[in-house]
Amino acid sequence: MLSYRHAFHAGNFADVLKHSVLIYVLDYMARKDKGYSYIDTHSGAGMYALQDDYAQKTGEYKDGIGKLYQSSDLPEILNEYISLISSLNNNKSLEIYPGSPGIAKELLRRQDFAHLFELHKSDFELLEELCQRWKKSRVYKSDGYNGLLEQLPPPTRRGVVLMDPPFELKEDYVKSVKTIIQAYRKFSTGTYLLWYPVVKRSYIEAMEEQFVSSNVRNVIQLEYCQKQDSDEYGMTGTGLFIVNPPWQLLGESDNLLTTMKEKLGNKHSSYTARQLIDE
Ligand SMILES: C[S@@+](CC[C@H](N)C(=O)[O-])C[C@H]1O[C@@H](n2cnc3c(N)ncnc32)[C@H](O)[C@@H]1O
Repeated sequence: MLSYRHAFHAGNFADVLKHSVLIYVLDYMARKDKGYSYIDTHSGAGMYALQDDYAQKTGEYKDGIGKLYQSSDLPEILNEYISLISSLNNNKSLEIYPGSPGIAKELLRRQDFAHLFELHKSDFELLEELCQRWKKSRVYKSDGYNGLLEQLPPPTRRGVVLMDPPFELKEDYVKSVKTIIQAYRKFSTGTYLLWYPVVKRSYIEAMEEQFVSSNVRNVIQLEYCQKQDSDEYGMTGTGLFIVNPPWQLLGESDNLLTTMKEKLGNKHSSYTARQLIDE
């Protein structure tokens, strides 16, 4: 039984980190003409109305995209993110917010192809509708971990994978890293982005350890914590492991994370950007 709906969380501080980095990576891939595959293992609905009951119930977007949308003094990486969202809103007030497939739909070119996996019935239907006229995409109502392994290596040997599980189940922490390690064996030059929530620090340390003791090379880790680690219920921070990142991303992410702390954070907020495993 799947209960997670991303509509409650769309545009929150975790989406700011994940989506600004995703846009940076997809822009980087488009510097070469050769097509690439984008594989989204946990896609969600793809587009969210911020005035609907889900987003309004939590109001999480107000402390994420809501605080950045009208800002002018942003670093380049956040400018690209805001300008994509602004254009989806016809450069007017913030009403809709894209999920990762919505972002990919804007940035992939005719020579690129998207494989989008989503298990939740309602979100799958919304995603299908979003992608109806997007010829270079395929939407699967099946497990994204297995689906990823079936799609590798991509035909053009260029690819970006976003793995963004709900982490409702504790097993997602181990399974997500394990699947990336398996995927890397089939396609070691791909760029892999694995998103995670900071709910319990020991889970994240275990993921780091799993990566470090694997054969995967060139991994960076970006993390933004809104609050200090805590044993109480709830997400205090968020992070990304990125395998084979664009070479300037680690430097750029310093600007991104500093701005997130300045604009979204408080005196307890903190961030890390580090090379977890060398090339
Ligand atoms: C965090 S949301 C995805 C958000 C999306 N990537 C974005 O950035 O907009 C996780 C999604 O994964 C779906 N899901 C859960 N387990 C899955 C699985 N094994 N395979 C594919 N989708 C799954 C959930 O229904 C949920 O919609």
